[in-house]
Amino acid sequence: MTTQKRTLGVCYYPEHWPRKIWEEDAARMVEAGLTWVRIGEFAWSRLEPSQGDYRFGWLDDAIEVLGKAGLKVVLGTPTATPPRWIVDKHPDMLAVDVDGRPRGFGSRRHYCFSHEGYKAEAAKIVQLMTERYGRNPYVAAWQTDNEYGCHATTISYSVPARDAFRDWLRGRYGDDIAALNEAWGNVFWSMDYDSFDQIELPNLTVTEPNPAHSLAFRRFSSDQVVAFNRAQVEIIRAHSGLPIAHNYMGKITDFDHFAVGADLDIASWDAYPLGFLDESTSFDPAHKQAYARQGDPDFQAFHHDLYRAVGKAGTGGGRWWVMEQQPGPVNWAPHNPAPLPGMVRLWTWEAFAHGAEAVCYFRWRQAPFAQEQMHAGLLRPDSEEAAGMAEVYAVAEELSSAPDAHAVQAPVALMFDYDADFAWKVQPHAQGLSYFELVFAHYRALRKLGLSVDIVPPTTQDFSGYSLVLVPGMMHVSGALKAALNAAEIPVVLGPRTGARTSEMSIPVPLPPAWSGLDITVTAVESIRLQTPVPLAQGGAFVSYREMIESGEAEVLEQTGDGWPAWLRQGHLNYLAGWGDMDALCRILASICEGAGVQTTVLPDGLRCRDTGRERFWFNYDTHAHQIDGQFFGPVSVTRQAL
Ligand code: GAL
Repeated sequence: MTTQKRTLGVCYYPEHWPRKIWEEDAARMVEAGLTWVRIGEFAWSRLEPSQGDYRFGWLDDAIEVLGKAGLKVVLGTPTATPPRWIVDKHPDMLAVDVDGRPRGFGSRRHYCFSHEGYKAEAAKIVQLMTERYGRNPYVAAWQTDNEYGCHATTISYSVPARDAFRDWLRGRYGDDIAALNEAWGNVFWSMDYDSFDQIELPNLTVTEPNPAHSLAFRRFSSDQVVAFNRAQVEIIRAHSGLPIAHNYMGKITDFDHFAVGADLDIASWDAYPLGFLDESTSFDPAHKQAYARQGDPDFQAFHHDLYRAVGKAGTGGGRWWVMEQQPGPVNWAPHNPAPLPGMVRLWTWEAFAHGAEAVCYFRWRQAPFAQEQMHAGLLRPDSEEAAGMAEVYAVAEELSSAPDAHAVQAPVALMFDYDADFAWKVQPHAQGLSYFELVFAHYRALRKLGLSVDIVPPTTQDFSGYSLVLVPGMMHVSGALKAALNAAEIPVVLGPRTGARTSEMSIPVPLPPAWSGLDITVTAVESIRLQTPVPLAQGGAFVSYREMIESGEAEVLEQTGDGWPAWLRQGHLNYLAGWGDMDALCRILASICEGAGVQTTVLPDGLRCRDTGRERFWFNYDTHAHQIDGQFFGPVSVTRQAL
């Protein structure tokens, strides 16, 4: 069991405020119980207003003021906001959208990950910053860039991306165009190529492009993010021994976070519970209404568990943070309500319950100018305290007497695979069908059963310590993973769509799931409208998607109302033949848990619990109280019990 302190921090933009208030700001941060202050990540135009005209003096000063006050600085590299002069110098550095239009200057993240000229500019500023601050006594960590993938920026259909994609394909197919034609099935619709230089990006085609082409481009685009980040990491490591983080996002799955995380020491993410709920199209209106001021009760927890896994992929031994925590209304969702009193504290404790080392609020003071003037901070624009601040004081006070955190392995492992997400995006089979949502539905069911969950990457080979592992929807499963799952002596839950495609996005023959030890064949599939669910014999239904399965040796444990196998089992391998609704998932998973010796308790929708090594936390997202086994949980409350 590892132990760690729990700390708080804030995001601050000294360049937005007069020099004369920096000392007071720093003193107030310390008084509020904050440890960390993240700065710098959008400041390029004030560090280098024109090429080679470096103005680091103000940043030297800001770091010193904050550090002398007792704060630890997380310094961001400013590459998410290239200033205007760089765009003028490299007009073709702009990312290009799917319709072929360059994305304009005037906000942020306008660069293309494949533009060599921009990459050189980014390397230069990162090099200068790390030479200057790499050993500064007040700088304690780095953040690379800001939110890779935000504003749909992973994928760019630019000429530099096309050229780099061609090179990437040459590497993947050993410079053999016949091998690519064969792998992609380009005989279909006469799509064969004679040379890699004929391959365009998969946009602007008359109808849908070849899914193998699209999947390759998504994999390439993900690799470009990994390479962009790695270039910064290598420069930082050459000048600084400090830990390096990146701040990932909610529900952004366009690049392989495990691969980016492998180069970093700390995984972090930006938690905006109310914004996420309001902007999501997958929650129904009643759910949105019930949780409008609290956020979805599982969404934050899912990401805490996901990014804990991304942290484990890195060099820091599993360190992870919330780098930005919503402290009040945001500005960017369709509607931006204020959180209920108590929610800022609840969200903060929930992150700690899932193992966060630090929670930093975004932002210190609300900006009276520019795009985010309607986004709350801990302070109002006039420097008076905003509503969220009182809750920060409360958490800081509680932390001062709370024991250190003890991390522990959860009983259940749920696999998340970014490559499967790419494959579902390329071939969803119905509007809105999403791998993320399928995995999230399984996660929600496990949490509704009162379980703590570890999310694990597709490279996992050792499942020891777990009582149950779930691998829903993983379109392509490597031979190594199949072997590891076959060797695991615990119940494994596969399907739907697990093993449905080869790594080149074709249907395998023998037909899916093509799994030795699981003698079943998916003979046909269908996607169905939400209004026409397929009922299961013992309650609940398959919604959105189901498979028709013929079983050889596997036992059919349950059928659909129309007579097809719904749940099959052979040895320790279970297969679910459709997308179960919450009733079906909870019922079937509870039964599998029982067989595995994992105790479950069905919780109300807004009440969730999580165990650390020595504590059990209860979080009530509901505005009414709950009672479970004689225990009372008040509305919008956090309950911490010693285990
Ligand atoms: C994040 C971003 C911040 C800020 C914030 C507003 O996505 O990293 O810079 O824009 O959203 O909620």
